[in-house]
This record gives sequence, structure tokens and C-alpha cells, in this order.
Amino acid sequence: MAGGIITPALINEVTKSGGLGSLPLGYLSIAEAQEAICKTIALASKQFAVNLFIQSPIAPPSKKQVAAMLAYVNQHRLSIGLPSLLEIPSWVEPDMDELLDMLLKEGISIISFTFGILSHNKMQRLLEKDVFVMGTATTVQEGLALEAAGCHAVIAQGYEAGGHRGGGFVAGQSGGLIGTLALVPQMVDALHIPVIASGGIMDGRGIAAALALGASAVQMGTAFLTCEESHASSLHKHMIMDNPAESTCLTSIFTGKPVRGFKNELVTMTEKNFSEDDLLPYPLQHQLTKELRSSANKLGHLEYAGLWSGQGTRLSRSIAVEHLMAILEKETVVVLSQFKNNLR
Ligand SMILES: Cc1cc2nc3c(=O)[nH]c(=O)nc-3n(C[C@H](O)[C@H](O)[C@H](O)COP(=O)(O)O)c2cc1C
Repeated sequence: MAGGIITPALINEVTKSGGLGSLPLGYLSIAEAQEAICKTIALASKQFAVNLFIQSPIAPPSKKQVAAMLAYVNQHRLSIGLPSLLEIPSWVEPDMDELLDMLLKEGISIISFTFGILSHNKMQRLLEKDVFVMGTATTVQEGLALEAAGCHAVIAQGYEAGGHRGGGFVAGQSGGLIGTLALVPQMVDALHIPVIASGGIMDGRGIAAALALGASAVQMGTAFLTCEESHASSLHKHMIMDNPAESTCLTSIFTGKPVRGFKNELVTMTEKNFSEDDLLPYPLQHQLTKELRSSANKLGHLEYAGLWSGQGTRLSRSIAVEHLMAILEKETVVVLSQFKNNLR
């Protein structure tokens, strides 16, 4: 979960308890990513994974479109005391070959990615070094494309999931809005590699359900945001703990890509004033609204904050990761044994 929420301590606790902690490298430069990896290696007693964003080239928006969005976002910046932006803050996407060089040098052996597929040469580099590679899919078609590219496992990300949708990278497909319950078994039937269920899984019932659907593992995000080791702001944690699932929505207004987070004034106002086509493509919209969102989050000002969350809000718990992991295991065993007893 990119964005400064995941701490080495959180990863270490997940990994120590038998899970696979994942260090997010999205939004980071190569130097920042390396620093985060070294800090995590220094603490982690076991292997952890890293997660990458695969950025595809974008068509540059027109000057008129940029000016309209800039003026709109500046209005909101001023209202919380931020100065106007004269242009969209720049961002240079890390060179993927250099990033992979660094990951291999640091001994990273488990990599997942989202938003696309690594190119053939880059996949081959990882496979030759025996790196375990996982991609994110929101449709069976995307899962098949990841399998064909050589991934060892596919994360099937359902509509319920918090954060960005990882799909939309297969030509002619806009990315799916398919719920986890429908997506996972169809993915399991179509693929020959393990499927990792993701989206709305918050407790042992969710884990047992995913296993019953044929998943080999689950990927959980929101459940960890409210943990003691998470660096999510107190506003973010309270929003998850105190709000129902229907408070979240899927919107592209924050970053230019569909993301599930809490609906706020920025979402409703933007939707009223602009169409999807007026928004800038990712990462430009992200760069444009980034400081507004993070300052609002720090100030406890929900209306402009971008607080990602899945739909399982009422199932969240504010506890230490070690405790959560122990409870998840216990709950899963109880649900699975209840199934067994009911069948007798
Ligand atoms: C705050 C947040 C940040 C996320 N960032 C990433 C990311 O950097 N890379 C990624 O592959 N998925 C990311 N995701 C999506 C998760 O990997 C996962 O699919 C999702 O959390 C599962 O749904 P759940 O939140 O209902 O458990 C993020 C999710 C959240 C909530």
C-alpha cells in the first residue's frame, strides 16, 4: 500500500506471523525505494515482497484541459491556505531497468506489480534470477495475460478493494468492476497458476470464503490500515473504523485512475463540475492534487483528503499486527472446521 502508510515494523510483524509483508515502491524514486528496502531488511527477520507500479505512456492533455484543472484545484488549495500552483508538479517515473537492477542487487526475490505487465525482457530478467513474480488482474482476461507473460501467481482484485484498481491494461478492456466472489472462482477455473484473492477480505470468514472459491492465498489491505504499526493518519483510521461501506466510492478524481476511497466534498464537487474526460491522466491528476490531499489529511480536513479504503470498514480492528494475524488464523480455522462439522 503505497503512500507512506506501510512501515518496516508492519511488514516485519506480518512476515513474522507467517504472512508475506509487501513493501510498496510506487511513488518512490529509486534512491527512496532503496532506502525503504534497506530499512526493512534491517528489521525483517524473513523474506518480504516489494510492489511496483507499471506506468504506461500517456497521451498529453491539451493546454486548455490542464489550465481548467489547475484553476479548479488552486481554488481548493487557497481555501486551506496553500499557495496557487503555476504548473503541475513534475514527476519523473523511475527507469524500470535501473529499478530492477537495484532490486536484484538488494536480493529481493518476491515482486508483485499493479497497473500493467512488465515487458517481456524485464520479466525474463526476473525469471532468470528465480524471482517469484505476481501481477494484479481485475478480469479473467487480464489474469490470462499475466499468466502468459510468465507470472507465478495472479492477484485477483475485486471491486470491493481499497486503493487503486490494478487493471485496465489489456487492449480493448477498460478494467473490470467485478466483485471478489464472482472474480476469484472464474480466475481459478481459467488459470493454471495460483490465484490470490483480494478485495473486502477482513477476517477469517473472508479468508475461508476465498479458500472455498479456490484461491491459494489472500491479499489484505484495509484490515492493516487501522493497526497500531500503520502510519495512516488518525483521520484515516477514524474514517475506516467509524464509517459504513457505502461511504467509500470508486473515483478517478484524486489521481486520474480509478481508486476506492472515502467520498468527500472534493469528489462530489468535481463530479458535479467535470466529466471523466476532463480529468488529467494518471500520474498528472495525482501530481496536481497530491499536496492538497496530503495537507488536508494532516490538518484533519476530510473534505480534500484522499483516504483509500476497501468496503470492509465495519470489520476493521484497531490492534497490533501480531494480534490481528493470530486472530485471523484462529478465525479461519474455526470457520473451516465449522464447514467440516456441518458436512458430517
Ligand atoms: C491505502 C491503500 C493503498 C494501496 N496501494 C497499493 C499499491 O501501492 N500497490 C498495489 O498493488 N495495491 C495497492 N492497494 C490495493 C491492495 O493491494 C489490495 O488490492 C486491496 O487493499 C485489497 O482490498 P481491501 O483493501 O478490501 O483489503 C492499496 C490499497 C489501499 C487500501
